[in-house]
Amino acid sequence: MSTLSSIKKPVEKDMAAFEDYFSKTMRSEIPLLKIVLNYIFRRKGKQMRPLLVFLSARLNGEICEATYVAATLIELLHTASLVHDDVVDDAEERRGALSVNALWNSKIAVLVGDYMLSKGLLITVEKNRYDMLEIVSEAVKSMSEGELLQIQKARKLNIKEEDYYKIISMKTAAFIAACTACGARSVTEDTDTIMTMKDFGENVGIAFQIRDDLLDYEGNGLTGKAPGNDIKEKKITLPLIYSLEQSPNSKKRHILSIVRNKKKTKAEITEVIEFVSEYGGMQYAELRMNQFRDKALAILDSYADSEVKDSMKEFVFYTTTRNK
Ligand code: IPE
Ligand code: IPE
Ligand code: MG
Ligand code: MG
Repeated sequence: MSTLSSIKKPVEKDMAAFEDYFSKTMRSEIPLLKIVLNYIFRRKGKQMRPLLVFLSARLNGEICEATYVAATLIELLHTASLVHDDVVDDAEERRGALSVNALWNSKIAVLVGDYMLSKGLLITVEKNRYDMLEIVSEAVKSMSEGELLQIQKARKLNIKEEDYYKIISMKTAAFIAACTACGARSVTEDTDTIMTMKDFGENVGIAFQIRDDLLDYEGNGLTGKAPGNDIKEKKITLPLIYSLEQSPNSKKRHILSIVRNKKKTKAEITEVIEFVSEYGGMQYAELRMNQFRDKALAILDSYADSEVKDSMKEFVFYTTTRNK
């Protein structure tokens, strides 16, 4: 199985230089802010999004400063959105440690998230890359709408499979599509190329979120996030949607009554997970995920074979097989 470090190979130097570039962006005079930012940036994520920006640039031309601007903007906004997401989801763990809201509180998490968001925007304005700003702002807008739609659906527990795709397309795939679009935009003005890369990113992004939702059920201990948090938060994702559709009404009502309950015991969460396994929800989600993976791979077929194309393919496979 491929690892992120082998996928990085064609853009290894750029990813290393990016680390430097990125860490210099966070300087503030406010001690509290400094402490929180330090805490956040000491725990790096997988950095899949900047990697995607660089690979997408490399696939379509020569990496340049605009590629770095895009990667920085994207990783800053991604990190900000995670800090906010953990407030929204009441999540206590992130990247193997306490979330900002758990360690400090929600007020601080909201404000620090806003700070990172505006820093990302400012850096891009300073470099005059309004084109990147446009692509990424659209995606962040979509992310907020997607998270709101998710809350709305969680309230009524009436989510259908189509609603699920709509939610994940808005909250996750739009931003991953912005990575591939910005990467391409940094090296070309050709709109067809940019749209093709965006479409590719959209499919990778949907597969990525289905995998994330599966990981919440698998609970492998590697994600750095507490498993079962989706059920706890009434987040009905594809494995559960499918299993509910397959089950008799009485069973369905019983499971939904558990999910609806604000306070759930560990045993109840385990019961929901076992229900999902019993009705094949995880296999079904995997099947769907692989269809999006294959659509992404098919889009890459229009490119001539190259080392960077191979890496991009590996990236797609990694997205759907990753354990963290
Ligand atoms: C988490 O993204 C948020 C989702 C869209 C599921 P990642 O799994 O890429 O988070 P980090 O950056 O590696 O922590
Ligand atoms: C993705 O959804 C979060 C964002 C789009 C910001 P999740 O809520 O499933 O992500 P994790 O599991 O907390 O990383
Ligand atoms: Mg979350
Ligand atoms: Mg999740």
